[in-house]
Amino acid sequence: MITGKYPSLRLRRGRKNDWSRRLIQENNLTPNDFILPIFVIDGKNKKIPIKSMPGVYRYTLDKLSYLVDKAIKAGLPMIALFPYTEKKKKKKNLTGTEALNEDNLICKSLQLIKQKYKNEIGIMCDVALDPYTSHGHDGLLNSGYVLNDETIEVLVRQSLLQAQMGCDVLAPSDMMDGRIGRIRKSLDKNGYQMTQILSYAAKYASSFYGPFREAVGSKNLLKGNKKNYQMDFRNSNEALREVALDIKEGADMVMVKPGLPYLDIIRLVKDNFKLPVIAYQVSGEYSLLTNGIRNDLIDKNVIIESLVAFKRAGANAIVSYYADRLDKILK
Ligand code: PBG
Repeated sequence: MITGKYPSLRLRRGRKNDWSRRLIQENNLTPNDFILPIFVIDGKNKKIPIKSMPGVYRYTLDKLSYLVDKAIKAGLPMIALFPYTEKKKKKKNLTGTEALNEDNLICKSLQLIKQKYKNEIGIMCDVALDPYTSHGHDGLLNSGYVLNDETIEVLVRQSLLQAQMGCDVLAPSDMMDGRIGRIRKSLDKNGYQMTQILSYAAKYASSFYGPFREAVGSKNLLKGNKKNYQMDFRNSNEALREVALDIKEGADMVMVKPGLPYLDIIRLVKDNFKLPVIAYQVSGEYSLLTNGIRNDLIDKNVIIESLVAFKRAGANAIVSYYADRLDKILK
């Protein structure tokens, strides 16, 4: 590999001037690298701050056009929709039936955006029941255990409904065994051969999801933890097995989540499988990066450094809560 030695070889020659540093850059960020999560909530003309995520809001549907307009102008390839489902309005229950309601927030958002923007931007939706269950788990619960096969039946219906409403990329984030194959089969059978599946293949049971659970209103509801379905953060071989299975079952892309503490997993997956890998810089990471730093300039540089790390590790794109402020960050 090394083709010379000091003093004739000096790596600092390449770093001396700005033009040269730019010339030899290996990784960089463009708007194409970002997926913007959007939290939607019932009501009118509201933009509600999420306490643990400064700068991130829940929006009512009448604000969607404004957000999507901005995302398209910024050049983002895709948004990801997440619903805040209100317990007060009795929309949460044990089995998360609101997930299958054709008039739920996600279905309404999908129709609205698709009708207006066609294929100008991709729309991704989570496939999981946690915004809709009274216990905050991603699937059906039986004495504290999340049932696999029974949950898949509901997820297949949730997926089909979202595809019918215009979802471009279904993103099962539930970690049930075998769900990708079942979802693919049902999509194909019903005429949705071109709907993509982005599998949260390596999703860890993480303590970095806290602020997101506040954002979707499942935080205080969650009974126990998600360790009987999401992965143990001590493992990496297991992530490769998960990814291999999901690819076999028909995943078009895979997600590694959380982000920064799992760069090793991104690299492993990228080296072992040649398919698009998406990283999710999750809510807890966002809160840490955003709360810890005040000075504007440092703020921006820290954020860029954290985001470029994903590209260096091999990610094709990043789900990031900063994606709506790229004009300020990347400029
Ligand atoms: C739910 C889901 C979670 C996130 C995305 N989809 C939380 C969880 O699994 O409990 C977390 C995102 C974030 O923390 O930013 N299936």
